[in-house]
Amino acid sequence: MQKILFFLTAMLLCCCSADNEMKAETPANTGNTSKTGKTLVVYYSYTGNCREIVNTLTSQIEADVLEIQPAEKGLRYEANNYALGTQLLNAIKANPNNVNSYPAIDPVTTSLSGYQNIIIITPLWWSQMAAIMQSYLFQSASQMAGKHVSMIVSSHSSGISGVVNDAKRLLPNVTWMGDALWINASNHSNRASLIENWLKTLNFDKAQTTMDKIYITIGGQTQSVTLVDNNATRELVAALQDTPITVTLNDNNFEIWGSLGRSLTTKNEQMTAQAGDIVLYNGSNICIFYDSNSWSYTRLGQIDGLSESELRSFLKAGENNIKVTLSLNKPTGINTIKSEKLKDKSCYTLQGTLAQAGHKGIIIQNGKKIIRRK
Ligand SMILES: Cc1cc2nc3c(=O)[nH]c(=O)nc-3n(C[C@H](O)[C@H](O)[C@H](O)COP(=O)(O)O)c2cc1C
Repeated sequence: MQKILFFLTAMLLCCCSADNEMKAETPANTGNTSKTGKTLVVYYSYTGNCREIVNTLTSQIEADVLEIQPAEKGLRYEANNYALGTQLLNAIKANPNNVNSYPAIDPVTTSLSGYQNIIIITPLWWSQMAAIMQSYLFQSASQMAGKHVSMIVSSHSSGISGVVNDAKRLLPNVTWMGDALWINASNHSNRASLIENWLKTLNFDKAQTTMDKIYITIGGQTQSVTLVDNNATRELVAALQDTPITVTLNDNNFEIWGSLGRSLTTKNEQMTAQAGDIVLYNGSNICIFYDSNSWSYTRLGQIDGLSESELRSFLKAGENNIKVTLSLNKPTGINTIKSEKLKDKSCYTLQGTLAQAGHKGIIIQNGKKIIRRK
């Protein structure tokens, strides 16, 4: 009974000290941002509320889920009037830049490199971010740099500004996708619609659709590439998130190839690569095929929609020192012009049928209207 009274009093104090209205909060001032790529939901839950929020969220968006667990099991953070929870938070507050101030968590093997969007779901403890989640964010801050991040905070009743401040302190180099969402005891049962509306403000639909494409530019012409989904392509996309990559490739009779300037995680398989295929060779070389070859490679993707002869021309087959730029966004400028169309000397009537020799009037040749008088 005494414990319950203490918690209720403490809750009341927290409620008075923190903002108390039901509103979403912004960890930083970036607002909505155009996002590409895959989403990771990372959460910690002591009594199960955040887990329920994760389940609701992942029924609405496509995302991978990572649960953070304390290394020491069976601890009761609420015991002795929340003494342990308080002690953990006080240690962090006293020395927030020291790794030893943070409670140990189970090792996390999930690499963040393939994720562009990260949603943190955390409980509030004493108007701060739960200590266990703080441990994870402290140790993964450098991996999170440059990612698009947002947050859902679950509390009994206290406002979440303290948690938002913790997030800003722990992740100084992320781009906040928008406002954090506060879910509390009085609206937890209504979380599905709260989350649905919140997601709309984050523009997540866009985020789900664009990661499987990158662009290759050679000599001012650009072609889209459909990626396969593996660790190598996730790492490549993550690297391209920072800046486009330009490599110098050389001809090898059936491909252009050369160093990518970085190693990607391999998933080699014996295959016969076909014209248009893009693969990773020996972990750090990129090969783009205009003819076929059998070898053990890691698949990266395929150039969209070019015939073999168009590929030869686009890839500058037979040349050396070919500058190839990989990027996430389509550069503005001229796209690849299909070589057949350039060579097409056929003339068409306005009805789209082939114009016979001697046809007079308006004809269309190579997309241009011409008036043939004789
Ligand atoms: C150590 C500790 C401290 C807490 N402090 C507060 C508080 O200050 N204000 C509040 O409204 N809720 C507080 N809570 C309640 C949790 O924020 C709330 O129950 C939340 O939904 C828990 O999420 P979970 O079930 O995923 O662990 C505290 C809970 C614990 C365990």
